[in-house]
Amino acid sequence: MQGAVTDADCVVCHEMTEHQDGFVRLLNPDTGLLQLTLTNPLVPTVLEPWCLACHDSDGAGGSAPFSDTIMPPVIDATLWAAASHETSAAVDTCWTCHNQGHGSNKQKLLGPWDAVVDAGSPDDPLHEEEQFCFDCHDGGVAGTDISTQFLATAPLWVGDVVGEFDNLNLNDRHDVQASAQAVSGAVIECSSCHDPHAANAAQKVIPDPDPTDGRVPGSGFLTLPGGDTMTEWCVDCHDGSFSADITAPTTQLQDVHATLAGDGMGEGTGNAALKAGYGWTTGGGGNMIVPCLSCHNAHVSSNLFHTVPTVLSFDGLTAVPSDDDPTPYHLTDNSIQDVDVNGWNWCNTCHTGSMGSNRDNCFSCHYHGRRW
Ligand code: HEC
Ligand code: HEC
Ligand code: HEC
Ligand code: HEC
Ligand code: HEC
Ligand code: HEC
Ligand code: HEC
Ligand code: HEC
Ligand code: HEC
Repeated sequence: MQGAVTDADCVVCHEMTEHQDGFVRLLNPDTGLLQLTLTNPLVPTVLEPWCLACHDSDGAGGSAPFSDTIMPPVIDATLWAAASHETSAAVDTCWTCHNQGHGSNKQKLLGPWDAVVDAGSPDDPLHEEEQFCFDCHDGGVAGTDISTQFLATAPLWVGDVVGEFDNLNLNDRHDVQASAQAVSGAVIECSSCHDPHAANAAQKVIPDPDPTDGRVPGSGFLTLPGGDTMTEWCVDCHDGSFSADITAPTTQLQDVHATLAGDGMGEGTGNAALKAGYGWTTGGGGNMIVPCLSCHNAHVSSNLFHTVPTVLSFDGLTAVPSDDDPTPYHLTDNSIQDVDVNGWNWCNTCHTGSMGSNRDNCFSCHYHGRRW
């Protein structure tokens, strides 16, 4: 609800003929007839069909239910039925995450509704975003532990400017955390890439992260090797403009969709020395688009630019050794000459013999769109 709540708004949900009898009785939003009588204590799953009856495309029988005349945001019941947050025994139902019928101190009615602000911590659980997800995705309730990777270290920032826009605000992660956003100026959240009402093991990410550009990931707008559709997905956002829920970083990012057209590691042709036996080639026509996820982790890594801690073969099965050290590589400082930390080891995996023993800062000459 926005604005003033009227008595009439209360009785859209509440059936009042047995008022004060000790049980909350809820009306079906479409028919206006009694749908369920809640027990005490509440069994949260019984509420789900009631929530979905209003959060469908026809709202309350085709109309907005309340006096603010806002239509309920639609939760697709078919996608929800197959979502991990519905099918997993560890998450009961809507009420696990939205544990109040009326309101919450948090945005989007998230639980716990009575959360208290921890002013000392910008990442505190009051926020509706990453800490909320971390609370389960820490290897406890959810087996997929996202919390450890993000919370293990503070963001690691580049030491020297990188790229066409002399960027000093690049680090080792997508900036979902307030501590990273305070430096880069960007705002992106877990929900920019994942829909908690639809994600499952088969479709972890939202299908079209930027619906405003007309390009649909998976439609083949790039010619990609080996059934890789994720590259189109990444490029849907990395094309110079983001969807409205994202705030772009203060320093502009490369338009990777544009630079791919000419890059040797993109749609352009190249003549690179590549280590044999790992499937990385110049392609049949001298043209292989190296998938984004071959080089970058989606979330965070121990390296700058969240580059992968282990470079894998094209089929994803074998670790590619560096010319020098074994894995892992430490791409942790782009400003100095050091074989371990500045890219030499990392690039001389798929590649071999590049720069010989010259350990200059690779990224002063090589970046997306330039000698790439
Ligand atoms: C009678 C219709 C109706 C029912 C039933 C209903 N909602 Fe809503 N809900 C709405 C409307 C309308 C909005 C849009 C907000 C507004 O009215 O200002 C909304 C908003 C929300 C929001 C977003 C709040 C925000 O801050 O943007 C969440 C989350 C939500 N509902 C969850 C639920 C859950 C969970 C249930 C079941 C326990 C439920 N709703 C039951 C009508 C309903
Ligand atoms: C979107 C539907 C909805 C609207 C609108 C709504 N309620 Fe509720 N109300 C609920 C649900 C669901 C519960 C059960 C929650 C529970 O038991 O924890 C509830 C519980 C209650 C209870 C039982 C005590 C409690 O907190 O559990 C009271 C009293 C109540 N509502 C009063 C109101 C009043 C007064 C209004 C109008 C200002 C109102 N409600 C508007 C859904 C709604
Ligand atoms: C695993 C936690 C989780 C569960 C379970 C869950 N939600 Fe949500 N829900 C969220 C989060 C997180 C957001 C905020 C997403 C965002 O900011 O875009 C949200 C947002 C919403 C919104 C607002 C959407 C909008 O566009 O503003 C509605 C409505 C909603 N949920 C309803 C439901 C209903 C109904 C169910 C059960 C069928 C449910 N949720 C189950 C986590 C959950
Ligand atoms: C109440 C606990 C809970 C909360 C809160 C929660 N999740 Fe989950 N989530 C799970 C469980 C359990 C699974 C099932 C797979 C597993 O165990 O990791 C899951 C699965 C997923 C999946 C699909 C991956 C798969 O293999 O099934 C994604 C993506 C996901 N969650 C993202 C999120 C995001 C983003 C948030 C915050 C908006 C969030 N989750 C909040 C418990 C939770
Ligand atoms: C929903 C939009 C969106 C999607 C999808 C997306 N990104 Fe990003 N990405 C951003 C935003 C916004 C930034 C700038 C702020 C930041 O670093 O998080 C960014 C930054 C980056 C950076 C620079 C980070 C740094 O600080 O060094 C890399 C690398 C990157 N993304 C790679 C990827 C890859 C690979 C994918 C696909 C798995 C992808 N992105 C998908 C929005 C997106
Ligand atoms: C820029 C987009 C982006 C952001 C932001 C993002 N993710 Fe992801 N996430 C992905 C992609 C892409 C994958 C699938 C990676 C893969 O398959 O290799 C993924 C995978 C996952 C999985 C499944 C992991 C598994 O091992 O199956 C979970 C759970 C998850 N993310 C939760 C989160 C949470 C929680 C946040 C916020 C802290 C978050 N994600 C932020 C893009 C993103
Ligand atoms: C995952 C494997 C992989 C990694 C890691 C990798 N490359 Fe490449 N690179 C390739 C492939 C494959 C090509 C050839 C693509 C083609 O010709 O179609 C290529 C081509 C190039 C070219 C084009 C050469 C020309 O003649 O135009 C340059 C320059 C290059 N890479 C530099 C680098 C640098 C610098 C790094 C480290 C930051 C790096 N590469 C890391 C796979 C990789
Ligand atoms: C002073 C600028 C400069 C620096 C610093 C630099 N390169 Fe290069 N690199 C070049 C030029 C020029 C080429 C020729 C290809 C071209 O023009 O696209 C090249 C070509 C390459 C190629 C493709 C040819 C081959 O050898 O397979 C790779 C891979 C490469 N460099 C890796 C690296 C790595 C790794 C580093 C850091 C240790 C690095 N470069 C540092 C200028 C530089
Ligand atoms: C061969 C490995 C490799 C591949 C493939 C690759 N990247 Fe990168 N990416 C890097 C490295 C190394 C950097 C840091 C140098 C730079 O800024 O270009 C980087 C930087 C970036 C940046 C920040 C650039 C800036 O300065 O604004 C973004 C965004 C990005 N990558 C997205 C992507 C996306 C999207 C894809 C897939 C289309 C992709 N990358 C494919 C290795 C790679």
